[in-house]
Order: sequence, then structure tokens, then C-alpha cells
Amino acid sequence: MAREVTHEERGPTVLDDDDKGDDGLIYVCRCGLSDSQPLCDGSHKATADEEDGVVYKYANDDADGKRREVGELAADEE
Ligand code: FES
Repeated sequence: MAREVTHEERGPTVLDDDDKGDDGLIYVCRCGLSDSQPLCDGSHKATADEEDGVVYKYANDDADGKRREVGELAADEE
């Protein structure tokens, strides 16, 4: 599984203590669907049933947006 997301930022952001969760850890989004980038907001749950080898695109890069398949990964990319 994989997904395409659109990034518009052109530089880094600084994380600090205010970004820590209740457990004192900072959870960085790696799925690309969080509305609170670069922090995880739980949107990754929408990816749980994505199939291996398939590339997906979520409308507006939103976990609640319509998901569609946009391609397949080559065997050497998996
Ligand atoms: S990893 Fe992206 S929202 Fe959690």
C-alpha cells in the first residue's frame, strides 16, 4: 500500500514541548493524511484496509475524503 499526498510547505517546522501528547511523546504523521501536520491526529486509521501493492489518493488528502486507487506499485517498490 501507498498513497499520494500533496505537500505545499517549502521548509521545516520546529516541534517543541507544546506538541507533546498527554504521554509526553510527540507523534509525527507518516501517512500524510493528518489535518494537524506534522503531528498525527489519528487520520491514519483510514489506511488500515489499504491493500499491498496499490497506490491510493484521498480527496483533498483528507482521511474522510473519497479514496480511489491511482495505480499499482512495481514489485521492486514494495
Ligand atoms: S500517521 Fe498520519 S495521522 Fe497518524
